[in-house]
Amino acid sequence: MSIPFRESDYSGMKVLVVPDAWQASLIAVESILKVIQSAQDERGRAVLGLATGSTPETVYAHLVERHRTGFLSFQNITTYNLDEYYPISPLDPKSYRSYMHRHLFSHVDIAPHRAHVLDGTVPEAYVAEHAAQFDHWIEADGGLDVQLLGIGRNGHVGFNEPTDLPVEQALRLATRLVELHMITRADAAREFGGVDHVIPRALTVGVASILAARSILMIATGAHKAEAVACALNGPMTAELPASLLQTVADKVTWVLDEPAAQGLP
Ligand code: PGA
Repeated sequence: MSIPFRESDYSGMKVLVVPDAWQASLIAVESILKVIQSAQDERGRAVLGLATGSTPETVYAHLVERHRTGFLSFQNITTYNLDEYYPISPLDPKSYRSYMHRHLFSHVDIAPHRAHVLDGTVPEAYVAEHAAQFDHWIEADGGLDVQLLGIGRNGHVGFNEPTDLPVEQALRLATRLVELHMITRADAAREFGGVDHVIPRALTVGVASILAARSILMIATGAHKAEAVACALNGPMTAELPASLLQTVADKVTWVLDEPAAQGLP
Protein backbone atom coordinates (compact mmCIF):
# COMPACT_ATOMS: atom_id res chain seq x y z
CA MET A 1 0.00 0.00 0.00
CA SER A 2 1.34 3.41 -0.72
CA ILE A 3 0.34 6.33 1.48
CA PRO A 4 0.53 9.87 0.04
CA PHE A 5 2.73 12.18 2.15
CA ARG A 6 4.21 15.67 2.08
CA GLU A 7 7.99 15.60 2.26
CA SER A 8 10.24 18.38 3.50
CA ASP A 9 13.62 18.96 5.06
CA TYR A 10 14.37 20.53 8.43
CA SER A 11 17.97 20.93 9.63
CA GLY A 12 18.93 18.27 7.08
CA MET A 13 16.42 15.74 8.42
CA LYS A 14 13.75 14.18 6.21
CA VAL A 15 10.21 14.94 7.40
CA LEU A 16 7.14 13.13 6.09
CA VAL A 17 3.74 14.52 7.01
CA VAL A 18 0.50 12.57 6.63
CA PRO A 19 -3.07 13.51 7.64
CA ASP A 20 -3.48 11.24 10.67
CA ALA A 21 -1.82 8.90 13.17
CA TRP A 22 -3.04 5.76 11.41
CA GLN A 23 -1.28 6.76 8.19
CA ALA A 24 1.83 7.75 10.14
CA SER A 25 2.02 4.24 11.57
CA LEU A 26 1.57 2.70 8.11
CA ILE A 27 4.41 4.81 6.69
CA ALA A 28 6.59 3.83 9.65
CA VAL A 29 5.85 0.14 9.14
CA GLU A 30 6.70 0.34 5.43
CA SER A 31 10.00 1.95 6.35
CA ILE A 32 10.81 -0.66 9.04
CA LEU A 33 9.99 -3.49 6.63
CA LYS A 34 12.39 -2.01 4.06
CA VAL A 35 15.16 -1.81 6.66
CA ILE A 36 14.54 -5.43 7.70
CA GLN A 37 14.59 -6.57 4.08
CA SER A 38 17.83 -4.83 3.16
CA ALA A 39 19.59 -5.85 6.41
CA GLN A 40 18.55 -9.46 5.85
CA ASP A 41 19.70 -9.30 2.22
CA GLU A 42 23.08 -7.93 3.30
CA ARG A 43 23.77 -9.86 6.49
CA GLY A 44 21.03 -12.46 6.83
CA ARG A 45 19.68 -10.73 9.94
CA ALA A 46 18.31 -7.43 11.21
CA VAL A 47 18.77 -5.61 14.52
CA LEU A 48 15.96 -3.27 15.58
CA GLY A 49 15.87 -0.65 18.32
CA LEU A 50 12.29 -0.52 19.63
CA ALA A 51 10.28 2.03 21.57
CA THR A 52 7.25 1.85 23.85
CA GLY A 53 4.47 4.33 24.66
CA SER A 54 1.16 4.86 22.93
CA THR A 55 2.58 6.03 19.57
CA PRO A 56 4.17 2.73 18.42
CA GLU A 57 1.24 0.53 19.49
CA THR A 58 -0.31 0.63 16.01
CA VAL A 59 3.11 0.04 14.44
CA TYR A 60 3.37 -3.20 16.41
CA ALA A 61 -0.22 -4.12 15.49
CA HIS A 62 0.70 -3.81 11.80
CA LEU A 63 3.89 -5.85 12.26
CA VAL A 64 1.94 -8.58 14.06
CA GLU A 65 -0.59 -8.60 11.21
CA ARG A 66 2.23 -8.98 8.65
CA HIS A 67 3.53 -11.92 10.67
CA ARG A 68 0.08 -13.49 11.05
CA THR A 69 -0.50 -13.35 7.32
CA GLY A 70 2.86 -14.95 6.56
CA PHE A 71 4.71 -11.88 5.23
CA LEU A 72 7.15 -11.32 8.11
CA SER A 73 9.20 -13.63 10.28
CA PHE A 74 11.20 -12.53 13.33
CA GLN A 75 13.42 -15.62 13.26
CA ASN A 76 16.38 -13.57 12.04
CA ILE A 77 15.53 -10.42 13.94
CA THR A 78 17.12 -9.20 17.17
CA THR A 79 15.54 -6.34 19.13
CA TYR A 80 16.74 -3.90 21.80
CA ASN A 81 14.23 -1.77 23.66
CA LEU A 82 14.98 1.79 24.60
CA ASP A 83 13.99 1.92 28.22
CA GLU A 84 12.43 0.36 31.31
CA TYR A 85 11.22 1.65 34.65
CA TYR A 86 13.46 0.98 37.64
CA PRO A 87 12.91 -0.92 39.75
CA ILE A 88 10.10 -2.97 38.24
CA SER A 89 9.26 -6.63 37.78
CA PRO A 90 8.97 -7.80 34.16
CA LEU A 91 5.62 -9.30 35.20
CA ASP A 92 4.26 -5.93 36.29
CA PRO A 93 1.77 -4.93 33.56
CA LYS A 94 3.27 -1.41 33.64
CA SER A 95 6.77 -2.66 32.81
CA TYR A 96 7.95 -2.14 29.27
CA ARG A 97 8.94 -5.83 29.11
CA SER A 98 5.29 -6.58 29.70
CA TYR A 99 4.20 -3.93 27.14
CA MET A 100 6.45 -5.55 24.51
CA HIS A 101 5.11 -8.99 25.37
CA ARG A 102 1.53 -7.73 24.98
CA HIS A 103 2.02 -5.77 21.78
CA LEU A 104 4.66 -7.75 19.89
CA PHE A 105 6.79 -10.52 21.36
CA SER A 106 3.99 -12.93 22.29
CA HIS A 107 2.44 -12.65 18.81
CA VAL A 108 5.50 -13.30 16.64
CA ASP A 109 8.23 -15.91 16.24
CA ILE A 110 11.04 -13.93 17.88
CA ALA A 111 13.52 -15.99 19.93
CA PRO A 112 13.24 -14.91 23.59
CA HIS A 113 17.01 -14.49 23.90
CA ARG A 114 17.02 -12.03 21.00
CA ALA A 115 14.31 -9.76 22.45
CA HIS A 116 16.28 -7.48 24.79
CA VAL A 117 14.72 -5.11 27.29
CA LEU A 118 16.73 -3.41 30.06
CA ASP A 119 16.21 -5.36 33.28
CA GLY A 120 14.29 -3.52 35.97
CA THR A 121 15.16 -6.17 38.57
CA VAL A 122 18.96 -5.84 38.53
CA PRO A 123 20.21 -4.96 42.03
CA GLU A 124 21.16 -1.29 42.18
CA ALA A 125 24.83 -2.10 42.79
CA TYR A 126 24.93 -3.81 39.37
CA VAL A 127 22.86 -1.35 37.37
CA ALA A 128 25.87 0.46 35.87
CA GLU A 129 27.37 -2.87 34.80
CA HIS A 130 24.07 -4.02 33.28
CA ALA A 131 23.66 -0.73 31.41
CA ALA A 132 27.20 -0.92 30.02
CA GLN A 133 26.57 -4.52 28.96
CA PHE A 134 23.44 -3.48 27.10
CA ASP A 135 25.44 -0.98 25.01
CA HIS A 136 28.09 -3.64 24.49
CA TRP A 137 25.53 -6.22 23.29
CA ILE A 138 24.13 -3.76 20.74
CA GLU A 139 27.63 -3.12 19.44
CA ALA A 140 28.54 -6.82 19.46
CA ASP A 141 25.35 -7.51 17.47
CA GLY A 142 26.70 -5.19 14.77
CA GLY A 143 24.71 -2.10 15.83
CA LEU A 144 21.08 -1.17 15.22
CA ASP A 145 19.78 -1.16 11.64
CA VAL A 146 17.03 1.19 12.75
CA GLN A 147 16.11 2.91 15.99
CA LEU A 148 12.41 3.57 16.32
CA LEU A 149 11.76 6.66 18.47
CA GLY A 150 8.94 8.63 20.02
CA ILE A 151 9.29 12.13 21.43
CA GLY A 152 8.10 13.24 24.86
CA ARG A 153 6.27 16.55 25.30
CA ASN A 154 9.50 17.74 26.92
CA GLY A 155 11.53 16.58 23.91
CA HIS A 156 12.94 13.46 25.55
CA VAL A 157 14.06 10.45 23.50
CA GLY A 158 13.95 7.14 25.34
CA PHE A 159 14.23 8.46 28.89
CA ASN A 160 17.04 10.85 28.02
CA GLU A 161 15.42 13.77 29.77
CA PRO A 162 16.16 17.49 29.32
CA THR A 163 19.47 18.46 30.96
CA ASP A 164 21.73 21.49 31.13
CA LEU A 165 24.77 19.50 29.97
CA PRO A 166 26.73 21.00 27.07
CA VAL A 167 25.81 19.36 23.75
CA GLU A 168 29.19 17.56 23.40
CA GLN A 169 28.67 15.84 26.75
CA ALA A 170 25.02 15.00 26.06
CA LEU A 171 26.03 13.31 22.81
CA ARG A 172 28.25 10.93 24.78
CA LEU A 173 25.58 9.89 27.30
CA ALA A 174 25.62 6.10 27.69
CA THR A 175 22.88 3.73 28.79
CA ARG A 176 22.17 4.44 32.45
CA LEU A 177 19.77 4.93 35.37
CA VAL A 178 17.98 8.30 35.30
CA GLU A 179 15.44 10.34 37.25
CA LEU A 180 12.27 10.98 35.27
CA HIS A 181 11.39 14.59 34.44
CA MET A 182 8.17 16.02 35.93
CA ILE A 183 6.48 16.19 32.50
CA THR A 184 7.33 12.53 31.86
CA ARG A 185 5.88 11.61 35.24
CA ALA A 186 2.76 13.67 34.60
CA ASP A 187 2.29 11.91 31.25
CA ALA A 188 2.64 8.48 32.89
CA ALA A 189 0.22 9.36 35.72
CA ARG A 190 -2.85 7.81 34.13
CA GLU A 191 -1.12 4.47 33.63
CA PHE A 192 0.12 4.43 37.22
CA GLY A 193 -3.10 5.71 38.83
CA GLY A 194 -1.75 9.14 39.81
CA VAL A 195 1.48 11.08 39.45
CA ASP A 196 2.64 10.13 42.94
CA HIS A 197 2.55 6.45 41.97
CA VAL A 198 4.73 6.82 38.88
CA ILE A 199 8.04 5.02 39.40
CA PRO A 200 10.39 8.00 39.48
CA ARG A 201 13.47 6.36 37.95
CA ALA A 202 14.18 4.39 34.81
CA LEU A 203 16.90 2.76 32.77
CA THR A 204 17.41 4.28 29.34
CA VAL A 205 19.57 3.57 26.34
CA GLY A 206 21.89 6.56 26.08
CA VAL A 207 21.97 9.28 23.47
CA ALA A 208 25.24 7.85 22.12
CA SER A 209 23.76 4.43 21.28
CA ILE A 210 20.62 5.97 19.79
CA LEU A 211 22.64 8.23 17.50
CA ALA A 212 24.90 5.32 16.50
CA ALA A 213 21.99 3.46 14.84
CA ARG A 214 22.36 3.16 11.05
CA SER A 215 18.97 4.83 10.65
CA ILE A 216 16.56 6.57 12.99
CA LEU A 217 12.80 6.65 12.56
CA MET A 218 10.97 9.15 14.75
CA ILE A 219 7.18 9.03 14.90
CA ALA A 220 5.20 11.86 16.49
CA THR A 221 1.45 12.24 16.39
CA GLY A 222 -0.99 14.61 18.05
CA ALA A 223 -1.12 18.35 18.71
CA HIS A 224 0.39 17.86 22.20
CA LYS A 225 3.69 16.99 20.48
CA ALA A 226 3.69 19.98 18.08
CA GLU A 227 5.81 22.31 20.18
CA ALA A 228 8.53 19.74 20.97
CA VAL A 229 8.54 18.63 17.31
CA ALA A 230 8.93 22.19 15.98
CA CYS A 231 11.79 22.95 18.42
CA ALA A 232 13.60 19.66 17.71
CA LEU A 233 13.36 20.11 13.95
CA ASN A 234 13.85 23.81 13.60
CA GLY A 235 15.30 25.13 16.83
CA PRO A 236 18.88 25.20 18.09
CA MET A 237 20.57 21.97 19.08
CA THR A 238 20.43 21.72 22.86
CA ALA A 239 20.45 19.01 25.52
CA GLU A 240 17.50 20.85 27.06
CA LEU A 241 15.49 19.35 24.21
CA PRO A 242 17.18 15.97 23.67
CA ALA A 243 15.38 15.23 20.36
CA SER A 244 17.17 18.25 18.84
CA LEU A 245 20.41 16.25 19.19
CA LEU A 246 19.18 14.16 16.24
CA GLN A 247 20.30 17.12 14.11
CA THR A 248 23.91 15.92 14.61
CA VAL A 249 23.16 12.80 12.54
CA ALA A 250 20.59 14.49 10.29
CA ASP A 251 21.18 12.48 7.14
CA LYS A 252 20.08 9.22 8.72
CA VAL A 253 16.98 10.58 10.47
CA THR A 254 13.40 10.42 9.18
CA TRP A 255 10.51 12.01 11.04
CA VAL A 256 6.98 10.76 10.38
CA LEU A 257 4.37 13.24 11.60
CA ASP A 258 0.64 13.56 11.42
CA GLU A 259 -0.77 17.02 10.61
CA PRO A 260 -1.52 17.93 14.26
CA ALA A 261 2.08 17.15 15.31
CA ALA A 262 3.39 19.16 12.34
CA GLN A 263 1.27 22.24 13.00
CA GLY A 264 4.09 24.23 14.66
CA LEU A 265 6.39 23.89 11.65
CA PRO A 266 6.89 26.91 9.37
P1 PGA B 1 3.93 8.39 23.73
O1 PGA B 1 5.38 8.59 24.35
O2 PGA B 1 4.10 7.55 22.50
O3 PGA B 1 3.16 7.65 24.79
O4 PGA B 1 3.38 9.75 23.44
C1 PGA B 1 6.43 9.00 23.54
C2 PGA B 1 7.64 9.24 24.40
O5 PGA B 1 7.49 9.77 25.51
O6 PGA B 1 8.76 8.94 23.96
